[in-house]
Amino acid sequence: MSTILITGCNRGIGLQLATQLHARGDTVIAVCRSPSDDLIGLGIRIIDGIDVSNGDSVAELQRELGDTTIDVLVNNAGILRGDSFGALDYDEMLQQFRVNTLGPLRVTEALRDNLGSGSKVAIVSSRVGSIDDNGSGGYYGYRASKTAVNQIGMNLMHEFKPHGIAVILLHPGMVATEMTNGQGISAETSASGLIQRLDDLTIETSGQFWHAEGYLLPW
Ligand SMILES: NC(=O)c1ccc[n+]([C@@H]2O[C@H](COP(=O)([O-])OP(=O)(O)OC[C@H]3O[C@@H](n4cnc5c(N)ncnc54)[C@H](OP(=O)(O)O)[C@@H]3O)[C@@H](O)[C@H]2O)c1
Repeated sequence: MSTILITGCNRGIGLQLATQLHARGDTVIAVCRSPSDDLIGLGIRIIDGIDVSNGDSVAELQRELGDTTIDVLVNNAGILRGDSFGALDYDEMLQQFRVNTLGPLRVTEALRDNLGSGSKVAIVSSRVGSIDDNGSGGYYGYRASKTAVNQIGMNLMHEFKPHGIAVILLHPGMVATEMTNGQGISAETSASGLIQRLDDLTIETSGQFWHAEGYLLPW
């Protein structure tokens, strides 16, 4: 059984990942800004007060972990802000970049010494970050933040491969959470697909972009 740290764990996909991984016997470390009743109800270790866009906050996460070895780090926390060309809010775009793009990098860099040979790093990206797959436009800030985090994931793959640490970019599907106002498949279904992708990840398959349903996505 593995020790799995998940960011954005108080609700949505992160909460479901924590629920299912805990149920099968993994040791889950749930990271969030503020714990929900559902998360507290799981009875697992929670590290709260952690904002992935804030350097001091992420340094505190590392301090709380000490020398705990993390087998799987799941960078899940993210935000989506709607936007429209002609009325773009550049501060909102930057905030999505801070959370969705720099957040996973900041957390992964801070926890580098908690990862060892055989560890895995996942980034919950989105297929809307795929340039090849962009068939409808819109969501300038969100799309760009996810495209950029895909590039960061590839860099981490190169960084970590010599150390035996595998990296995966994941698309969870269109999932019914607060982010989508409840539109999409259940978080339970999405999380179970994501867990399968995490289980299947090896150093040989490091640096790929997977749909939770089990097929590769174009960049
Ligand atoms: N739902 C979809 O259809 C879909 C599709 C593609 C990709 N994704 C990606 O999947 C991931 C999870 O999304 P979701 O659907 O579960 O959304 P969600 O229900 O809105 O949950 C987002 C999570 O991220 C956390 N978060 C946001 N900003 C944060 C920050 N600065 N620091 C720490 N935590 C922060 C939230 O915590 P608070 O409660 O504190 O805000 C919450 O736990 C995101 O990366 C999202 O982009 C989702």
